[in-house]
Amino acid sequence: MTPSTTGDATGHFTVERRIAADHLTRALRADAQAGLTESPKSLPPKWFYDARGSMLFDRITRLPEYYLTRAERMVLRANAPRVAELTGARALVELGSGSSEKTRILLDALTAAGTLRRYAPLDVSESALTAAGQALAAAYPGLAITATVADFETDLALPEPSAGPRLVAFLGSTLGNLDTEQRAAFLGRLRQALTTEGDALLLGVDLVKDPARMLRAYDDGQGVTAEFNKNLLTILNRELDADFDPGAFDHRAIWNEEEERMEMRLRARVTHSVKIPTLDLTLDFLRGEDLRTEISVKFRREGLEPELAQAGFTLEHWWTDQQERFAVLLAVPA
Ligand code: SAH
Ligand code: AVI
Repeated sequence: MTPSTTGDATGHFTVERRIAADHLTRALRADAQAGLTESPKSLPPKWFYDARGSMLFDRITRLPEYYLTRAERMVLRANAPRVAELTGARALVELGSGSSEKTRILLDALTAAGTLRRYAPLDVSESALTAAGQALAAAYPGLAITATVADFETDLALPEPSAGPRLVAFLGSTLGNLDTEQRAAFLGRLRQALTTEGDALLLGVDLVKDPARMLRAYDDGQGVTAEFNKNLLTILNRELDADFDPGAFDHRAIWNEEEERMEMRLRARVTHSVKIPTLDLTLDFLRGEDLRTEISVKFRREGLEPELAQAGFTLEHWWTDQQERFAVLLAVPA
């Protein structure tokens, strides 16, 4: 597929689409076929983020219960100048950048340090990338903003080594939405791609804490997370011509103690069937049966450091907020 690129009027914001228009539907179809026919039923969380899903996630980040974004912002504010000093990054790459809201803290520090030339956000959500890119182009006129629509599990689309040193930011604890195997594969590929002297990884991860606090973060009082979760069914209806009734499911947030991860599920309120004609599938749900829609792994330094080492990274700095809810770490190729 030849990537297509569009620029804005100022020319310093471009969007490159590295996935074919129908790629997402085809990949979703494959994931739905695999995940919905196994027991228990599950789907990977990357499918939440159509335009409405990205908008709902943005609302989640502002909820009083969703401490993750606020805690990470505090850690970034306290340490961004140090990150700039330590990395001297000329290119800031961001995987799963979404609204790029917190990224401004890094952009400010790196532009103040005078090293930054380019910001390269990457996301599966083109709507989120375009909105963020346009806002940032206005706020940072001297910066080249080169956005990429891609799936970071298959294509990291890093700027060329000569644009480096490259700092790859992976914030928001999106790493926790991957299971152990997926994390190993992802971190291994990222390590292979970081070839220039001075390249580094800035990773934001949510930490294991009191389960009650985490449960509230994933089941908020206003029901925004429930809406975000159920929006997945609307996406399946639209993309796969399925006939899910979002009203036939309850939102559930569960703390999986053994795996130390939060899980979001959609629990069938009644026994019923769902048709997905494009997959030639009829799904039977029993009353009380769960469809798992997301895992959100919570980390401990003693678990994550060896995972990074296994992938070929050395953890050099570990910063947390005062309450130790969230960590941002700087790792470099070993
Ligand atoms: N980094 C932001 C947004 C986190 S939400 C923050 O910290 O607030 C997760 C983001 O990752 C969404 O914008 C979603 O579209 C994107 N995403 C999820 N899976 C992805 C994948 N496999 N490839 C690229 N982007 C992905
Ligand atoms: C993007 N990701 C890290 C969020 C999380 O916390 O796992 C998505 C989310 N799910 C429910 N609320 C927010």
